[in-house]
Amino acid sequence: MITHTLTVAYTEVSGISQLEDDDSKLLKEAWKACESAYAPYSQFHVGAALQLANNLIFKGNNQENAAYPSGICAERVAVFSASAAHPGVPIKTIAVVAKTKVFNLANPVTPCGACRQVMAEYEMLSGKPIRIILQGNSEKIWIIDGIANLLPLMFHGGDLKK
Ligand code: THU
Repeated sequence: MITHTLTVAYTEVSGISQLEDDDSKLLKEAWKACESAYAPYSQFHVGAALQLANNLIFKGNNQENAAYPSGICAERVAVFSASAAHPGVPIKTIAVVAKTKVFNLANPVTPCGACRQVMAEYEMLSGKPIRIILQGNSEKIWIIDGIANLLPLMFHGGDLKK
C-alpha cells in the first residue's frame, strides 16, 4: 500500500496595489463585471475577467434563473465567451471577485467544481497554466498558478484516449 500526497499552493497579497499592472487592471474589470451580475435569488454577485494570450479581455458575471440549475457562474460566462470568440487562444489569467450584502465575505471566493473543470479543459488544450486571481469583500487577494492547484487529480481529455 502506498499513500500519495499532493500539495497545492496559493499566494496571498493584501491589496490591489501589490499586483502587477496587468493583474490590477484585470481585477478592476472583474469588479466592473460584478456590478452587473444577475443574482436576484442568491444576492451573491460574482464577476470574472480574463485576459487571453492575444491580450484581449473577456468578462462575465453570474446569471441566475428562477429554475435554479439553469443559471451559470461568472467564470463560465467569461471562459465560454472567450473561447467562442477566439477558439484555441490560451487564457493567461482570470480574475474572479464576489460580493454580497447579506453577510461578510472575509476570504476570496474560490471557483466552484464545475468552473474548475471547465478551466481545466482550456488549460489542457493550450498546455499553458492559467493564473487565477481572487478577491472577496476584503483587501485580501489570492493568486493561484495553474488549475492543478485548484483541482488536483483532475479528470481530463487524456483520460478518454483509447
Ligand atoms: N457563483 C459564481 O458565479 N462563481 C463562483 O465561483 C461561485 C458561485 C455564483 C453561482 C450563483 O449564481 C451564486 O454565485 C451563488 O452560488
